[in-house]
Amino acid sequence: MLRTRRLRKTENIRRLVKETSLSVNDFVYPIFIEEGKDIEVEIPSMPGIKRYSLDTVSKELAEVTALNIPAVLLFGVPASKDDTGTETWNPDGIMQQAIKFIKKNYPSLYVITDVCFCEYTSHGHCGVIHNNDVDNDATLVNLAKQTLSHAEAGADMVAPSGMMDGAISMMRETLDNAGFPNLPIMGYSVKYASAFYGPFREAVDSSPSFGDRRTYQMDPANRDEGLREATFDDQEGADILMVKPALSYLDIIRDLKNNFDRPIACYNVSGEYAMVKAAAEKGWIDGDRVMMESLLSMKRAGADIIITYFAKEAAKLLAQ
Ligand code: PBG
Repeated sequence: MLRTRRLRKTENIRRLVKETSLSVNDFVYPIFIEEGKDIEVEIPSMPGIKRYSLDTVSKELAEVTALNIPAVLLFGVPASKDDTGTETWNPDGIMQQAIKFIKKNYPSLYVITDVCFCEYTSHGHCGVIHNNDVDNDATLVNLAKQTLSHAEAGADMVAPSGMMDGAISMMRETLDNAGFPNLPIMGYSVKYASAFYGPFREAVDSSPSFGDRRTYQMDPANRDEGLREATFDDQEGADILMVKPALSYLDIIRDLKNNFDRPIACYNVSGEYAMVKAAAEKGWIDGDRVMMESLLSMKRAGADIIITYFAKEAAKLLAQ
């Protein structure tokens, strides 16, 4: 008889035939840094995740470092916003201060920065608004300034999340011309217009004040278009290609893994985190097991790097 159960009989044979495993080396931990003093605010829809100011964030950074998590992804929450997000390229802005602070005090921690405008614009969109829509090419000009200021502050990697066409080319050229040819770019290559970003927008106050992001982020119905997006980022020189969100888009992660010889990242976003936390709090699921199974599924789908709010908890479980 054809039997597959022979290789499932004991823990040790299951260990031998295991195809995928998670490691702390896979994780990037997102951190929200707010301008101001003495801020340590729990985000209601993301239990365990807080917004910190620079004077309170050290214990979080020390924990991440002690757990051997390789990298953080920084999001800045500025004290003031305007139409175009000019604070994003202020050399003394909150993001720039955060980069310097972390590289000085935790030099081994790899610092990836979110390069976007939505937390910094009064209207909450990811760029400059003309005629009620984000103007792609006007936004690129500001994106170049923001990228350069992150590089000058000492970022290890920059990650544009705004889904503007030509962003990777613009950033690569800017970095190369300014003496940063070795600074890598992680493209948010295939980013969908997703309801799973809800808790994040609450966390950083970045909900669009009018309309939505469907003129720049992708339609969740589209798969082939994901390959086209990733092809452009690949050709423009993105060092890492990302899919976002992760759980509802495991097919896209696999598509990228099969089609590109670059590291593939995925972003296990705020809504995915919130769902697990909420159900676990109610006692409806085993939160730890669902967390590990979800992360494993992303790895199995083909992700080499997982950006996740679960990074600390998962790292603790993996170390046991
Ligand atoms: C936008 C940005 C978003 C996230 C990261 N960068 C949200 C959006 O597009 O509105 C979402 C992350 C998450 O939900 O965890 N710059």
